[in-house]
Amino acid sequence: MSVAKVIAEQLEKSSWIRRMFEEGTKLKRERGPENVFDFTLGNPDLEPPPVVIGSAIASLQEGRAGSHAYMPNSGFPEVRRKIAERLSAATRLPFTENHVLMTVGAAGGLNTVLKAILDPGDEVIILAPYFVEYRFYITNHGGTPVTVNTGPEFLPDIPAIRAAITDRTRAIIINSPNNPTGVVYPPRILEDMEDLLRRLDREVLLLSDEPYKALTFTGVRPPEVATFVTRSVQIYSWSKAMAIPGERIGFIGISPRLPDAAQLFDACSFTHRILGFVNAPALWQWVVSECWDQTADVSVYEEKCDLLWEALKRIGYKVVRPGGAFYLFPESPIRDDVAFIQILKDEGILAVPGSGFGTPGFFRLSLTVPMQTIERAITGFQHAYRRALSADR
Ligand SMILES: Cc1ncc(COP(=O)(O)O)c(C=O)c1O
Repeated sequence: MSVAKVIAEQLEKSSWIRRMFEEGTKLKRERGPENVFDFTLGNPDLEPPPVVIGSAIASLQEGRAGSHAYMPNSGFPEVRRKIAERLSAATRLPFTENHVLMTVGAAGGLNTVLKAILDPGDEVIILAPYFVEYRFYITNHGGTPVTVNTGPEFLPDIPAIRAAITDRTRAIIINSPNNPTGVVYPPRILEDMEDLLRRLDREVLLLSDEPYKALTFTGVRPPEVATFVTRSVQIYSWSKAMAIPGERIGFIGISPRLPDAAQLFDACSFTHRILGFVNAPALWQWVVSECWDQTADVSVYEEKCDLLWEALKRIGYKVVRPGGAFYLFPESPIRDDVAFIQILKDEGILAVPGSGFGTPGFFRLSLTVPMQTIERAITGFQHAYRRALSADR
């Protein structure tokens, strides 16, 4: 076989979402697509804001000299400068273009940083439930993922994180607004994180994965991690914010307070290159530098979230109210989340079991479906809940 054993194993283990997608295709064939409610994929179902597309067209038409040429591996300096100005305004910290590195989305950003900081066998703490790709990104670079469960309301459990830190720990990854829970961390969590990292006798980085930062609901404002945590690196992406995940654009923002910020910036520029990204897509760098703040219509996700959250609560499901992103992560009415997913499937509803995110006993619903799909699926959620409980008795 030409595929490496380790990749064959990862393929086998990773693919809850793909497995559900395949089951969904089969179910749609059997029942007709209108009778299948697919809540599995976290792919924005909105179109990018028109100004974003306008900016891409204008940028192409402008024909700026060198705008399609090779550039520094970290991205166009003037783009990075503009982003640094915005970060400085948001955090009151002295970000410059040498703290900002344009990346191929958050996935590219995370891989670039992990490659830069990990020696074989180094550990990275991830908080369950987690975005499943983190495990692969860490092992891509010889690291070992160490899972720590979150506490009540899916917030980081600081004492548990402290207990998991060893002399091999290099970083902790956090993600707020969170996939799969939708939870937004309050400032006190970051204050506690700063306190934890400061007390360590070794250097551990906080990697803040923020592709959902712009997708927060009314009255919720995610705190700026760099304001609170000295040893922090922000990994941002416009995939979800502008509904352009196919364009692959994001950035790494290294805190200017990090003592070895310059060295990390150089290392990331290098790893970005040798991972084969070379640089982030040129056109989209120009676009995001102009339209930094443009976001897809978050109110659409919030409306869907309200509808489904309230309906699930009424039925009896336990589910934390998200502050952003486009997911709900309800508790399965029976302990076996994989069995419950099958019950939902019988009702034509496709969801991903919490086991796929390192947290059995829950399931994830993505809100990137039409409102009508949610409305029509509610009866199925009700039947599944009753069936699960009566089978459990
Ligand atoms: C938590 C989290 N991090 C990172 C990513 C990767 O995002 P990007 O498309 O910007 O690479 C995703 C994508 O779904 C995500 O959910």
